[in-house]
Amino acid sequence: MHDFVYKKNELYSEQVPIASIARAIGTPFYLYSRHTLENHYRVFDSAFSSIPHLTCFSVKANFNLAILRIMAHLGGGADVVSGGELYRALYAGISPNKIVYTGVGKKGDEIEYALEANILMFNVESPEELSLINRIAGRMKKKARIALRVNPDINPRTHPYIATGLRENKFGINIPHAVKEYARAQKLKNIEIAGIGCHIGSQIVEVSPFLEALKRVKILMAELNKMKITIQYLDLGGGLGITYDQEEPPHPRDYAESLMKELKGLQVTLILEPGRVIVGNAGILVTQVLYTKKNNRKNFVIVDAGMNDLIRPSLYGAYQKIQPVIRAKRKTIIADIVGPICESGDFLAKDRKIQMLKAHEFIAVMGAGAYGFSMSSNYNSRPRIAEVLADKNRFSIIRERECYDDLIRGERMPDDLKISEFGIRKQGLGI
Ligand code: LLP
Repeated sequence: MHDFVYKKNELYSEQVPIASIARAIGTPFYLYSRHTLENHYRVFDSAFSSIPHLTCFSVKANFNLAILRIMAHLGGGADVVSGGELYRALYAGISPNKIVYTGVGKKGDEIEYALEANILMFNVESPEELSLINRIAGRMKKKARIALRVNPDINPRTHPYIATGLRENKFGINIPHAVKEYARAQKLKNIEIAGIGCHIGSQIVEVSPFLEALKRVKILMAELNKMKITIQYLDLGGGLGITYDQEEPPHPRDYAESLMKELKGLQVTLILEPGRVIVGNAGILVTQVLYTKKNNRKNFVIVDAGMNDLIRPSLYGAYQKIQPVIRAKRKTIIADIVGPICESGDFLAKDRKIQMLKAHEFIAVMGAGAYGFSMSSNYNSRPRIAEVLADKNRFSIIRERECYDDLIRGERMPDDLKISEFGIRKQGLGI
């Protein structure tokens, strides 16, 4: 369920008419519904309420500070994968003892930062990383809490780019190897074994891959038990899918129920790292039609948002539903909905059956709250777009649209290429 619905043929976010936001701030922009976001978090988190657990929102899905702050208010933690994400999570007020840090390429300074912040635990992805964490913690006279992220070799039956728990993927440590590493970790002076981590992929629309992974992790836990290693936290990662088109993913309640059944008898605190399922359908991308044209009988609708703003269709061939902000009875056509970027891969939809659209009208790209803004870039020197939060009958800008100055911030001219202030003015930048 989400709060983007038509009232008298006009699309609203909560009680705010979307066209009114577009007229006030221009297009394109990302728009999130606070109510949907909170509702999704509560439904997910409460599904696990009968067991000790921690919901760590996956910051990579949407890193906006206001969104993270909402998660913090709801009692959520964070799953971070970089020093930058850790900075954002802390800045937004997420408590460090609810932060887990995953990722195959943590750098020394990032590890130091996380130790300084006293996060809950590192999900360690290689023996070398374990050694480095131990060394840095030793230097800082600290003990680092760790889980080993294991790779259970499970096929999550999702897009290959977002499957992470297969033997051939770069993630985690395979289970037989993990036993040896736990034994080594036990002897490291500055390491405290806190848990096991496992994340098998994203946009998973059935429960069975999660259960298969959990079964393998349980075998490992039994093995560790024999070695007198107790696992306090079991981190099963994120990955629960959502409906973009026709998918029928399990409801969080069913997902939770199946996992909890499999967990019966284990004395652990469960950690979950949901991203998409919380924020995916809580956000849309609002864009405007610039032109329409026909080339060799093919229809093109050219809009002001491109692959730099929302890369999922180009990168994964992902389906994102598209609908006009003002609905009317009109002819349907088959068209490519494309952006202004100079690449043929720049599209939001291909061969899509859609109502005939015309220049200047606003359209909504649905299900864009996760991996939308967070994967956007400045390609083609396009300023990154605004983010807006609708809350009942109000809306607030939670990230300003970038300006041209933002594009060149941080760039420097070597001395012999310097242009004088006068030179710049003479060339008349027109800004
Ligand atoms: N935990 C870890 C360790 C992860 O790597 C991820 C996602 C998550 C949690 C959150 O997964 P979620 O609940 O959102 O499925 N850009 C792609 C998705 C990449 C997912 C990467 N890892 C997309 O747009 O589909």
